[in-house]
Amino acid sequence: MTLAIIGGTGLTQIDDLSVIDRQTLQTPFGEPSAPYLITDLNGKKLIFLARHGNPHRIPPHKINYRANIWGLKQLGVTEIIGVAAVGGITSAMAPGHIAIPDQIIDYSYGREHTFFADDLEHVTHIDFTLPYSPSLRERIIRAASLAGIEISANGTYGCTQGPRLESAAEIKRLGRDGCDLVGMTGMPEAALAKELDLAYANISVIANWGAGLVDGEITMVEIERNLEVGMNKAIALLKETALLKD
Ligand code: HPA
Repeated sequence: MTLAIIGGTGLTQIDDLSVIDRQTLQTPFGEPSAPYLITDLNGKKLIFLARHGNPHRIPPHKINYRANIWGLKQLGVTEIIGVAAVGGITSAMAPGHIAIPDQIIDYSYGREHTFFADDLEHVTHIDFTLPYSPSLRERIIRAASLAGIEISANGTYGCTQGPRLESAAEIKRLGRDGCDLVGMTGMPEAALAKELDLAYANISVIANWGAGLVDGEITMVEIERNLEVGMNKAIALLKETALLKD
C-alpha cells in the first residue's frame, strides 16, 4: 500500500514531512500540477502533490486532474486522500470543522473528466455508487477517533465549477439537492482515481458558510483564517491515518 495526499488550498506543503525525493513527471495527459514529493513519515512512505501547484497558482477549472492522478498511478500509489477547502451548507458544517464526505454531486463542466475519452475500444463505465473508498474512509474516521479529532463522518460534497463562489440561490439549490458541502476540486479527481482503480477519499476542511447562509460577503481573509485552524487538524488527521495499520 502506498498512500498519497493531494493538498488543496491552504495545504501546499506539510512542513514536518522529510522529503526524500522530488519527481517531476510527464504523463500522456500532460504535466501534473507540481513535482511529486516522496516523503517519509516515521518510516512510512507518503507521496504529496500540491493540487494548485506550489506556490498556489492553478485555479480549480485549470487543474490537470488527469495528469495528477495518472502520475500517482505511475509512482505506484494505491491510495489517495484528497484534501479540499469547502464551504459549509448544513448546520453541522461550520467553518473550521472537518468532514469526510461519503457522496458527491458533480456540477462542474468542461473539465477533462475521464481517461476513456478517446480510446473507445476500451471505454469503461465505472460504478460510482460509492464515489469514495469505504475502507479508506473508515480508516480516516478511525484515526480521527484515536487522535480525538472531531469530524463529521458523512456528507455530500457538491462540486461547482468556480473560480467564483456561488450565489445565495445556488447554495439554496445545493442544499435542496442534499449537498452538505460545496467545493470546486472534488471532481473529476474522485472519478479519475476510480477509473484507475485507486482507493480515494476526501478530507473536507470547511472555510466559510456557503453564500447567503450568514449576512455579508465571503472574504478571502475569512477563508484563510478558518483554513488555518482546519488545516492544522487535517494535517494531524492525515498523519494519524498514514501511520494506522490498514
Ligand atoms: N464554495 C465553493 N468552494 C469553496 C467555498 C465555497 O463557499 N469555500 C471554499 N471553497
